[in-house]
Amino acid sequence: MSKVLIKGGRVVTAVDDYVADILIQAGKIEAIARSLEIEDAQVHDATDLLVLPGGIDVHVHMETPMGNGVYTCDTFESGTISAAFGGTTTIIDFAQQFQGESPKLALDRRLADAAPQCCVDYGFHVILTDANADAIAELPDLVNHEGVSSFKLYMAYPGVMMVDDAAIYKIMRKVGSHGGMVNVHAENGTVIQALIEEALAAGNTSPKFHQLTRPRLMEGEATHRAIRIAELAEVPVYIVHLSAKEALDAVVEARDRGIHAFAETCPHYLFLDEVQYNHPGFESAKYVMTPPLRDRRCQHELWRGLQFDDLQIVSTDHCPFCFNENPMGLLKSKRYGQDNFNKIPNGAPGVELRLELLYDGGVRTSKINLNRFVQLTATAPAKMFGLFPRKGTIAIGSDADVVLFDPNKEHTLSASTHHSNVDYSLFEGRKIQGKVEKVFLRGELIVDGEQWLGSPGMGQYINRTASGRIL
Ligand code: URP
Ligand code: ZN
Repeated sequence: MSKVLIKGGRVVTAVDDYVADILIQAGKIEAIARSLEIEDAQVHDATDLLVLPGGIDVHVHMETPMGNGVYTCDTFESGTISAAFGGTTTIIDFAQQFQGESPKLALDRRLADAAPQCCVDYGFHVILTDANADAIAELPDLVNHEGVSSFKLYMAYPGVMMVDDAAIYKIMRKVGSHGGMVNVHAENGTVIQALIEEALAAGNTSPKFHQLTRPRLMEGEATHRAIRIAELAEVPVYIVHLSAKEALDAVVEARDRGIHAFAETCPHYLFLDEVQYNHPGFESAKYVMTPPLRDRRCQHELWRGLQFDDLQIVSTDHCPFCFNENPMGLLKSKRYGQDNFNKIPNGAPGVELRLELLYDGGVRTSKINLNRFVQLTATAPAKMFGLFPRKGTIAIGSDADVVLFDPNKEHTLSASTHHSNVDYSLFEGRKIQGKVEKVFLRGELIVDGEQWLGSPGMGQYINRTASGRIL
């Protein structure tokens, strides 16, 4: 494989910030020095650019079945191209165990779908929906031999994904004793179900009722419960898509007591708020994601959580459904729930926007500094989910997943220019500063400005080591 030389860029990691040249050879970072001259290298001038480790998005849902034939609208191919254009070179998606199914079989099914398509590197968390004894007995093997060190449990969606507290405890106990971590979707599913039934019985079917039936208190309650069960089971626990102040309070309280409780939030919770549910007609369906957008006070608290390490990661929860029925069909569209908020497929797009939004709205506004930006988007995800030091930093011997980022370039976000299949953007028309210019995946240039140079299947499955050991 040819040599690549990135010259004169400002190299930023979670701890460093310096100008240097980087030599890439055989897909790895081979040398970093103030000045390197290599005769037979392909040279990329990075003057005035930031040189960042490739982003790692640990929460995405590509071509994911949501029940009743409904699917997210990005394939592994379109979703990972979109990720790459946004500077993300590794994703962790989900493999869902269906009732009665072997978790290993669920993993194999997703691996078979992903392998020929993925354009960036990838891993899977295994979602457990059936805690039968055989399934639980398989978990150590997944951790030790299949590279899956994180498992997801739902406290929401009764009758579909939800597992009860006893199942949560049993799974946590097993996973904790084998080097794994449990990710939890923390909302009180049964109370929320009662609220949904109340709303529908009163004839309230519009998208706003998605927000009104998923109150912050029930996110806080479930977060507290998840952490307490994890404490008892002695397992690290990771709260996904944390949105509410009440949930953050539960994480802070646990961390202050030395409990291994971690959490992520997502750009939509940092940059959008509940006013989006006041649009007329069906427009607000674009913002039907779970948990829903919260108020400004929560936004403020989330930023504080990111600043003080009570929140460790920013992921996207990229879970795209088109707004319009055509051209992808009703089963990949929000229109599936046109007449009933409870049928609107839950989720929103964003895998392409994470770095640029967080740079523009976080670094440029001095809410976080550049090192923290890298920590939140690459280094902490790598350490949390068993990818470090192969991924998540720029260091000799690490994979050469590198992003050249122009901190001065202004542009406007729009569905007409993004690379996902989804037909809308949560951030349509937003003017931002800072743009991904070039992306290298293990030393191969896959994004060059607007040009796509990667190919389906070039992404590699990454066997992850222990999760949740970030201290
Ligand atoms: O709205 C969301 N987050 N959709 C993805 C499925 C889930 O709830 O995790
Ligand atoms: Zn999700």
